[in-house]
Amino acid sequence: MDKVKIGIIGGTGGMGKWFEDFFTSCDAHVTISGRKTGPSFEELAKASDILILSVPMGAAIDLAKSLGPLMSKNQLLTDFCSMKEDICIAMAESGAPLSLGLHPLFGPQTASIKGMNIIFCEDAQSKDTSPWANALEKMFVDHGAIITRMDPVEHDKKMALVQGLNHFMTICLAGAMKKLDIKPEDAAIFSTPIFRLKLDIVGRLFAQDTSLYADLIKKNRHVPEVLDTFKQAMFDASSAFTGSDDDAAGVYLDELNDFFDKFSEQGLTESSKVLDFLYT
Ligand SMILES: NC(=O)c1ccc[n+]([C@@H]2O[C@H](COP(=O)([O-])OP(=O)(O)OC[C@H]3O[C@@H](n4cnc5c(N)ncnc54)[C@H](OP(=O)(O)O)[C@@H]3O)[C@@H](O)[C@H]2O)c1
Repeated sequence: MDKVKIGIIGGTGGMGKWFEDFFTSCDAHVTISGRKTGPSFEELAKASDILILSVPMGAAIDLAKSLGPLMSKNQLLTDFCSMKEDICIAMAESGAPLSLGLHPLFGPQTASIKGMNIIFCEDAQSKDTSPWANALEKMFVDHGAIITRMDPVEHDKKMALVQGLNHFMTICLAGAMKKLDIKPEDAAIFSTPIFRLKLDIVGRLFAQDTSLYADLIKKNRHVPEVLDTFKQAMFDASSAFTGSDDDAAGVYLDELNDFFDKFSEQGLTESSKVLDFLYT
């Protein structure tokens, strides 16, 4: 059987290179392309069974519009964008008969795909008729990834928490330390392991392309609502911990403990493993 031909536009970048190696290890025939590297985007679109747009969101939408009309029903147009609503609409309306939004929920520093989440945002056509969506799923699942299908809008709402609020909180910790004039290297000598891990996560963010993080917060239209909810949670916690009612903090924590339920024990076990591995 012929090898599946996978073309990656933006294959010169972090995710593109990572998936070039991954798909090659799955015995696919992978060709990468960049603005100054490899075949032209049009040539790659015509020659690939699966064409992946691994470029920033704005560029992906433009490329979907220009390359979609070149693609046939025997091909699949996909992308890796971290938000899915706009790119899935652009791909579905591009003239490409089959399209599939993908979101690998990990970055190019990740050693293995095993245990990693990948979201599939399938259009109805691809779901029923594309062998390539199934081929991708098999490659991912065979190597231990976890595939979840999700509507693009629902995906973006979830990412407003997982990416938007999560990275926002990391940035706010950095902002508070700056205001307090506590440098991370000074904090190291009085850090607990869990605070040191938090400092590492702040460092990790600033060691990477900060514009990507800015986009994940600024360009997700569901983030403002999540931030409003977070501000309300801060207000509730602040009242419980600093107000005059001595019982309020305990009641507040008990409610959250009930909400987190059995997960708390799992969180303790997993985070202890991370801390033991890192700091002992
Ligand atoms: N990094 C992550 O953790 C992560 C995780 C999940 C999903 N994603 C998504 O994956 C995609 C790629 O991210 P990445 O981290 O691999 O970014 P990256 O390292 O910056 O690579 C993106 C590539 O896109 C190409 N590119 C940039 N601007 C372009 C334009 N205007 N037109 C055409 N090509 C352009 C560049 O290649 P040339 O300069 O060679 O043209 C670059 O190598 C993004 O949509 C991102 O949201 C990233």
